[in-house]
Amino acid sequence: MKIIAANSNPPLAEAIAAYLNLPLTAATIRRFSDMECFVEIQENVRGEDVFVIQSTSYPANDNLMELLVAMDALKRGSARRITAVLPYFGYARQDRKSGPRTPISAKLVANLITVAGADRVLTLDLHAGQIQGFFDIPVDNLLAEPVFVRNIRDSYDNGSLTMVSPDVGGVFRARAFAKRLDADLAIIDKRRERAGVSEVMHVIGDVKGQDCILVDDIVDSGGTLCNAAVALMENGAKSVAAYATHGVLSGGAVSRISSSSFTKLVTTDSIMQTEAMRVSSTLEQLTIAPLIGEAMLRISEEKSVSSLFD
Ligand code: R5P
Repeated sequence: MKIIAANSNPPLAEAIAAYLNLPLTAATIRRFSDMECFVEIQENVRGEDVFVIQSTSYPANDNLMELLVAMDALKRGSARRITAVLPYFGYARQDRKSGPRTPISAKLVANLITVAGADRVLTLDLHAGQIQGFFDIPVDNLLAEPVFVRNIRDSYDNGSLTMVSPDVGGVFRARAFAKRLDADLAIIDKRRERAGVSEVMHVIGDVKGQDCILVDDIVDSGGTLCNAAVALMENGAKSVAAYATHGVLSGGAVSRISSSSFTKLVTTDSIMQTEAMRVSSTLEQLTIAPLIGEAMLRISEEKSVSSLFD
């Protein structure tokens, strides 16, 4: 078993390597002066079971290209099996035609990953589960839920806890959290009037006097969560916090969230923390390195991955 870290999230790759008690395989990833990327694997990988760790987060296209080029190098170096480990799968939100003459970029990216040489994919909280079907190779989709649930149990007395889905599409996830935590469930009925702007309409469920926890897969601009927080407070919530697996946090998201009514926003380290995130007293990051490391070990040893979530 060998682990290669591309450049998107070195701290996570190092933490995974530490969990597995394995060194990262020596590799050089550099740019030509026109920004083409070049990868050279500096150890023999012939016949090896290789895992390439790369989130296709900002800058999404550069990080995606690094992943593809690294896998091509491994394939040509005769690796026995290549697993693309994508803690964050960028482009996942483009999972259907949003209008006439628009792409399904998640499918295109799945094709690129496969053609570049991946034999399997390991990822976390895919935006839409059906993206697994965009691949004709095995996909293991891990859940951050156990990591989040443990943290919520440690932080809250669940007497007045309500798990909240920020939109109708996320009800399944919020319900799973509510079930594990024996908490109530509420749903935000969100209407998006135009692309990029999210608007909250109303809260389904009674949140008066409740500690509300919003759960989502992605927080990007923060608009969805901040609007939901306003609606919850207006409906009498005692406090509002949020747990979102992937902290994309683009544009002014960190300051928007920091100046909102959230007691905290908890993300995982699927995307590397920026300095702005690190200094914000509202933002917290939990590591998913042991979860990903354990899944990699089980894949390598041909053991069940799903039993991690029993
Ligand atoms: C939407 O379907 C997703 O689950 C997230 O709610 C959305 O991507 C968050 O985006 P933003 O933070 O920009 O509102």
